[in-house]
Amino acid sequence: MPVRFQLNGVLIEENDVSPSMTVLDYLRETKGLKGTKEGCAEGDCGACSITIQSALGRVKTVNACLMLVPQLDGMSVVTVEGLSAPDTDMHPVQQALVDNHAAQCGFCTPGFVMALYAYTQTGESVTPESVHEAIAGNLCRCTGYRPIVDAGISLGSKAEKVIPPAIEQSDYYTDGDEDFFAPRRLEQLVALKSEHPEAFVLAGGTDLGMRASKERQPYGQVISTANVTELNQIERDQDSVRFGAAVNYTRALPILEEIAPSFAQLVRRIGSRQIRNLGTIGGNICNASPIGDTAPCLIALSAVMIARGPNGQRDIPADEFFTDYRKTVLSADEILEAIRVPIPSPDLIFRAYKISKRFDQDISAVIGAFALKVEAGVVVSARIAFGGMAATPARAPACAAALIGQPWSLDTAIAGGAALTEDFTPLTDFRASQDYRSRVAGNLLQRLHLDTTQDGVAVEVMAL
Ligand SMILES: Cc1cc2nc3c(=O)[nH]c(=O)nc-3n(C[C@H](O)[C@H](O)[C@H](O)COP(=O)(O)OP(=O)(O)OC[C@H]3O[C@@H](n4cnc5c(N)ncnc54)[C@H](O)[C@@H]3O)c2cc1C
Ligand code: FES
Ligand code: FES
Repeated sequence: MPVRFQLNGVLIEENDVSPSMTVLDYLRETKGLKGTKEGCAEGDCGACSITIQSALGRVKTVNACLMLVPQLDGMSVVTVEGLSAPDTDMHPVQQALVDNHAAQCGFCTPGFVMALYAYTQTGESVTPESVHEAIAGNLCRCTGYRPIVDAGISLGSKAEKVIPPAIEQSDYYTDGDEDFFAPRRLEQLVALKSEHPEAFVLAGGTDLGMRASKERQPYGQVISTANVTELNQIERDQDSVRFGAAVNYTRALPILEEIAPSFAQLVRRIGSRQIRNLGTIGGNICNASPIGDTAPCLIALSAVMIARGPNGQRDIPADEFFTDYRKTVLSADEILEAIRVPIPSPDLIFRAYKISKRFDQDISAVIGAFALKVEAGVVVSARIAFGGMAATPARAPACAAALIGQPWSLDTAIAGGAALTEDFTPLTDFRASQDYRSRVAGNLLQRLHLDTTQDGVAVEVMAL
């Protein structure tokens, strides 16, 4: 079956494009749509922003550099060329950028146009904060962001809503050389993984996409989880929320905001909207990076990873999921099906802190996640996890032991921070030195104390 999608209103059927071709290369080289720019080719600059929308979904901005062409199957795709026809009035978003003098060299401008176009379709209230968040994944080297934000604010709800046609999706695409499987059901996914244990499992592709965009390597065989019904479900009962492994951050956010606002705040800082519209918690976990943001939170919250293989399902406590640097307990024929997150009880204090060089769109140097119970001023339980401090995200048992049974005071927090030297001997790399990591991790305990004992105190440098 061909890859079918609508591109700027025209139905496209592709039969012989390599499944390893990025959408950015496809648009620029195959379709000659050069308005979509290549800046970084790794999801960091937003110059390649386009929008995608399924018949049932909303308009989402994504980075074309990180996507593979078969990921467009069934989508309606809009590039900057599709917003207004030549010799017609500019689209309101384009006009707003002109009116606000929000471009100079113009290289970044199509990306900003597309990010703001998607923003105007979300229906959220237009505030400086939401405009900032909407364009946090777009870099401009010359104009300065103030006029661009002004343009975003001026847009209000001018843009019209568009519902694209339903396009039949295919569950297999090949160019004769490489295979792209897009199963719909869990049992098909598991069978495919058993048959092709070496195939790449692709969720959003915001980590895996780098293989095509940066390393320029073909994939051979890809099994996409994006269309698997079971992996796209979010189920909630009294005690927990079960996130299917293919649920992206944008979908997970409103629920996380309800059950663990501090976790949600951290997720809001994962990449950009472009990244969160595709990236999944499942991908973050399976990527098994020591600096992945969600793992410390899931460990501190006692989440459970649900794996599925030919022999059925098994539950793995989050703190037992990671075995070594970028390694997990999943066997070659297993996939991650879901993540079960217990709903914190009202007396559980949960906080997650991300330390990175920039507030937005940056990878962490250190992540600390803390789940404490304090009764009558005394810490009665503490489950603490860190990322960026070891080869895997991990619990901090000595730190937790230094808190339990002690009054929840600044001295106890300092003692807990000092105990981290027993838990971790971090590495020096280009993100942070060993000394910095140790000190900042220890200081996070003091932040936690301040944050949980003094109302309204600012513990985070905010974007605005
Ligand atoms: C610009 C940019 C900024 C980023 N910022 C952050 C950040 O701030 N914090 C952060 O933590 N991460 C960040 N990331 C990394 C990435 O976005 C996240 O790790 C994301 O959660 C990956 O999810 P995905 O769905 O895109 O995974 P994919 O790229 O599709 O897959 C990642 C890995 O998981 C495997 N996998 C995926 N799903 C399954 C499954 N169901 N079963 C088995 N294996 C599976 C894949 O085979 C692959 O090895 C950033 C990435 C970019 C490009
Ligand atoms: S080219 Fe920079 S985000 Fe894609
Ligand atoms: S206008 Fe030059 S990079 Fe933004």
